[in-house]
Amino acid sequence: MNEVSLAKPLNEIRTGLGWDVHRLAAGRPLILGGVTVPSELGLEGHSDADILSHAITDALLGAAALGDIGMHFPDTDPRWKGADSLLFLAHAAGLVRDLGFTIVNVDSTVILERPKLKDYRQPIRESLARTLALEIDRVSVKFKTAERVGPVGEGRSAEAQAIVTLVR
Ligand code: C5P
Ligand code: MG
Repeated sequence: MNEVSLAKPLNEIRTGLGWDVHRLAAGRPLILGGVTVPSELGLEGHSDADILSHAITDALLGAAALGDIGMHFPDTDPRWKGADSLLFLAHAAGLVRDLGFTIVNVDSTVILERPKLKDYRQPIRESLARTLALEIDRVSVKFKTAERVGPVGEGRSAEAQAIVTLVR
């Protein structure tokens, strides 16, 4: 039988995937990547409900096999009520760097029917890059509608997806 080698590769590359969804509601702010976007409806949640920061936080944790956002920041903990989700993101970046990883890049998509987000792409990228201590050209943010189909398309919720690459 062949022996399975557990030796670590010289250049270890990791990827991590993140996803989040929150309901949209009146009287809540729409915060994406730490940037408040003017909108009739905002995101509901225990924290500031920043789906984009939550998805990227999970992608970072996933790449390093460090569990998920709820394990590090339970939504039952009063400390995180109304919390600025950039704190979660900065914490996850610190954890992966503590393990010796360098963050190569972040790619992400926000799926929201309205408002149009493209004018906020640059400020959102800047906010994420600053929080992650990354050059802005390593941080990508894309936007999609759900073509008026399903809960996102009907404007009842919004989603975010993220993928990150780490190297060690
Ligand atoms: O979803 P759809 O393919 O119609 O999106 C087309 C483009 O509209 C996207 O590539 C993005 O640039 C922009 N968009 C946006 N804000 C949204 C959804 C899409 O700026 N909420
Ligand atoms: Mg969330």
